[in-house]
Amino acid sequence: MHAGPSPFLAACRREPVSRVPVWFMRQAGRALPEYRALRGTGSILDAIGRPELAAEIMLQPVRRYGVDAAVLFSDIVVPVASLGIGVAIVPGRGPVVAEPFRCAADLARLRPFEPEVDAPYVAETVKILVRELDVPLIGFAGAPFTVASYLVEGGPSRDFGRTKALMHNEPAVWAHLVDKLADVALASLRSQVAAGAAAVQLFDSWAGALTRGEYRRFALPATEKILDGLAALDVPRIHFGVGTGEILDLMAAPGVDVVGVDWRVPLDAARARVGPRPALQGNLDPAVCLAGFPAAAGEARRVLAEAGGAPGHIFNLGHGVLPETDPSVLERIVELVHDEGRAGTGGAVEGDSRSEP
Ligand code: CP3
Repeated sequence: MHAGPSPFLAACRREPVSRVPVWFMRQAGRALPEYRALRGTGSILDAIGRPELAAEIMLQPVRRYGVDAAVLFSDIVVPVASLGIGVAIVPGRGPVVAEPFRCAADLARLRPFEPEVDAPYVAETVKILVRELDVPLIGFAGAPFTVASYLVEGGPSRDFGRTKALMHNEPAVWAHLVDKLADVALASLRSQVAAGAAAVQLFDSWAGALTRGEYRRFALPATEKILDGLAALDVPRIHFGVGTGEILDLMAAPGVDVVGVDWRVPLDAARARVGPRPALQGNLDPAVCLAGFPAAAGEARRVLAEAGGAPGHIFNLGHGVLPETDPSVLERIVELVHDEGRAGTGGAVEGDSRSEP
């Protein structure tokens, strides 16, 4: 597989590293002209279903940016889409479900997910990649709350009204739904790890819509089932959501090795909220990358300073790369983090006063 120790995996375990590792959520995708050229106009689900193509898409950002990890080219709705419940990914919008889940009878539509039968192309993609990569591959799944929100709303939502109606009015149906989705995610992640993924990330992207009480009652138990189900595999488990500052301590559940932090919470404040155990991943504002390199560099240096040079920081954006991003800005951010981040020395971060060449 990959040659030499991986700074990414070491940082996940809060071990000292020679340089701060960096990767970007959504690093493969529309910000890259070579992605647009390769992908054409078909559905992204078709591209995901073609292992050679998906593997090539995944390698593009590793080559161009020099990041310390690759992330599987797939989508959080791929497992449920493969079960035949009618999910499409609409460009510019996101996952859309033709017949949304609204009642107990809909639960029967969610049969058990068998990765090797229902979506064999995912493990195939992982295997191709692991052969070609010299950095670790991060597998991923959608957390039950976030995937359920697409199934119940029928598409992206701002206020999650139908989702909250179901959880509050039919708590037993909701619990059954997220428990089934936990089994789906767990089967998917286990198969990705068996195929060679060296770490996994659980995306609960929209968990920030919940109160602490709702998160604890309606989201966390199913998520913990996944985290605990992965414990024996001994791969780092990363847990990420957007707008989750108020539930960050809850997201740092015992089974979590790395907590992803969005750009709203400075990493020193995040550290105070989650305690000393988990590593932290984040948290440059993806929108500031649109402001050009000098502005992004200033913010990247602030992120490094707030991480404090202690072991256990994985540099990333606070959410995914925006399609309008100039790839050269991300390229230079990787260089900056590698040159100036010094996690593990315990000392201050160099470079705050360094002037731009
Ligand atoms: O480098 C990578 O991270 C690529 C792999 C990846 C994709 N989706 C491919 C994709 C990952 C990790 C995801 C996860 C995902 N999908 C999440 C969690 C991460 C997050 O951003 O919070 C969510 C919420 C989804 C659902 C989804 N799929 C959305 C909201 C969209 C965007 C719709 C749009 O067009 O703006 C998608 C589509 C999608 N998934 C694209 C990519 C590269 C873009 C569409 C395309 O290229 O055709």
